[in-house]
Amino acid sequence: MIDLHSHILYETDDGSSSLEESIEMAKEAFEAGFTTICCTPHYLEPQYVHTREENLEKLNILQNKLEQRNIDIKLELGNEIFITRNIEELIDAKKASMLGESEYILIELPMFQRLTSAINLISDLPYSKIILAHPERYEYVQDNISYLDEFIDMGILLQGNYESILGKYGRKAEKTLKKLLKQHKVDLLSTDTHRKNSTYARFLEIEKKLKKLVKEDYYKDLTYNLPKDILRNI
Ligand SMILES: [Fe+2]
Repeated sequence: MIDLHSHILYETDDGSSSLEESIEMAKEAFEAGFTTICCTPHYLEPQYVHTREENLEKLNILQNKLEQRNIDIKLELGNEIFITRNIEELIDAKKASMLGESEYILIELPMFQRLTSAINLISDLPYSKIILAHPERYEYVQDNISYLDEFIDMGILLQGNYESILGKYGRKAEKTLKKLLKQHKVDLLSTDTHRKNSTYARFLEIEKKLKKLVKEDYYKDLTYNLPKDILRNI
C-alpha cells in the first residue's frame, strides 16, 4: 500500500514528536504492508511553516535510519496545505511541496466553518491536480454531502482517512465516509496518522472493516492503484 497523507515526519507539526517515534511509526507501517509513505506535514501560517529544504533534510535522516534498521519504506515529501490565497506563491518559493515528484497538491479546508470562497480559491490555482484531504471530517460536509459535488465536478480527488471507518473522528465522519465509499466518490484512502500506536498499528482492524464495505477492485484502487498513479503524476 501507498500512504499519501501522513504526519510521520518528526518535529514539523503536531505529528511525530521525535525521530524515534517516526522510526516506530514506519516500522508499524511496514508491518501493516505499506511500501511508500508521503510525509505531509501541515503547512499553515503562522503555526507550521517549515520549508521544503528543512523537511527534506529531516526526511533524509529518517530514510537513512530506516535503511539501517531494514525497514523497507520509501519516503516522499509533500505537504497538507491549508487553503489560503497564496498557495501558488508558497509552492514557487519552495515553502510548501507537491506530493513527491508529482504535480498533485493536497489541500485541507477548515474543519467547522464552511469557507464560501474555497471553490474559487481552488479554481484560481494554476494546477489541475488537486486532492482534498478527508472530506468526511468537515462538519458542513457531514451535514450536506452535496457540498462536495462542485469539487467532484472540477475533477478534484477525494482522500478519505482510514480511521474514519473505525469512528476515530466521531459517528458522523464514519457515516459520511461510508456513504461516500458506497457511492464510489472516494478516490483514495490515507492514514493522516500523527502518532505511533495509531493507524498503522490498527491496520488489520481497518482492512477487515473496509473489505466488508467495498469490493476487492475498489479496495485496491483506494489503497494502492490511485496513490501509485498520483506519485507517477498520471
Ligand atoms: Fe493531516
